Amino acid sequence: MKKKVLVTGGTGFIGSHTAVELIQSGYDVAIIDNLYNSEKSVLDGIKEITGTMPLFEEFDLCDQIQLHNFLKSHHVDAIIHFAAYKAVGESVKKPLDYYRNNLLSLINLLGAMDKYDVPSLVFSSSCTVYGQPDKLPVTEDCPVKPAISPYGNTKQIGEEIIEQTMKAKDGLKAVSLRYFNPIGAHPSALIGELPRGVPENLVPFITQTAIGLRDELKVFGSDYNTPDGSCIRDYLHVVDLAKAHVVAVRRLLEGLNKKNYEVFNLGTGNGVSVFEAIKSFEKVSGVKLRYNVVGRREGDIEKIWADPSLANSELGWKTESTLDQAMETAWRWEKRIRNK
Ligand code: WQD
Repeated sequence: MKKKVLVTGGTGFIGSHTAVELIQSGYDVAIIDNLYNSEKSVLDGIKEITGTMPLFEEFDLCDQIQLHNFLKSHHVDAIIHFAAYKAVGESVKKPLDYYRNNLLSLINLLGAMDKYDVPSLVFSSSCTVYGQPDKLPVTEDCPVKPAISPYGNTKQIGEEIIEQTMKAKDGLKAVSLRYFNPIGAHPSALIGELPRGVPENLVPFITQTAIGLRDELKVFGSDYNTPDGSCIRDYLHVVDLAKAHVVAVRRLLEGLNKKNYEVFNLGTGNGVSVFEAIKSFEKVSGVKLRYNVVGRREGDIEKIWADPSLANSELGWKTESTLDQAMETAWRWEKRIRNK
């Protein structure tokens, strides 16, 4: 009997890539999404890649009644929870929207898991919980610092809510996955990142500049204490990230977890600067990118990259794609959606 996994936010960037990997790993997938920051047409991409159209229902997880009705009519064995607002800058302007949406949806989900006997949860967390780490590469036991944005704070509080709930409810178990910077797109170019409006993140801004949608990339600062002066991040291919979710949900479904709440960093372990990311894109695309160095962006940390050894050893997961490969898929996706 196939296990069924509910993917909340499953028409989003990481959610859709995870739905593909789950289906291709033999799971049944159901998706709940309110389409606030994604398009229903993503389902067609998932179907074209896998041959399977996942069950889909459009509603907001803050609506407890709709969530309970869903779980009453659909038995699921595990939940992977992506659905959340995720724009750092926007969260500073609209903190209450972020706290309400990101925390209420999680609280509703945890309550429904308990009521409808769904024992396993994989939570989409973020390296943003670390703030600017004192020591690099950053490990899971690195102290969590006061968040620099309400978005990051919702991830910190979300992890604490889950940890306390797992302590209180014997039958429940959860894994939090702290993503570093996911980039790229499925090699088929049938699904990818679809930022609404002006992209906040670096790589979609690079590809939109290269395709001619944006005049130039603004590099937010070159006066940091890094080798070339620009910020350093740990960019990982979104397909590698998606595969980690399959491993994590299988760990819970097969009872391989060692504690009923575990946390893993998901990154390559390599730090890459903004200028190095630009060079990688120019190499794989053959496009000379127009960019201009401007002032620092409020809230940016200087440098962070993962120590992924716990995920490597405990999950048996490690990234396979290089930065160039990830950039190449991002560029292939941009060209396809702009019919270039
Ligand atoms: C990366 C680097 C910018 C845009 C955030 C969240 C994280 C995750 C990913 C959700 C930084 C620089 C960017 C641009 C630039 N989000 N940059 N010009 O801020 O590291 O992480 O997004 O899960 O949780 O914190 O990612 O891609 O915005 O920025 O110079 O137009 O690129 O300064 O150094 P970030 P990013």
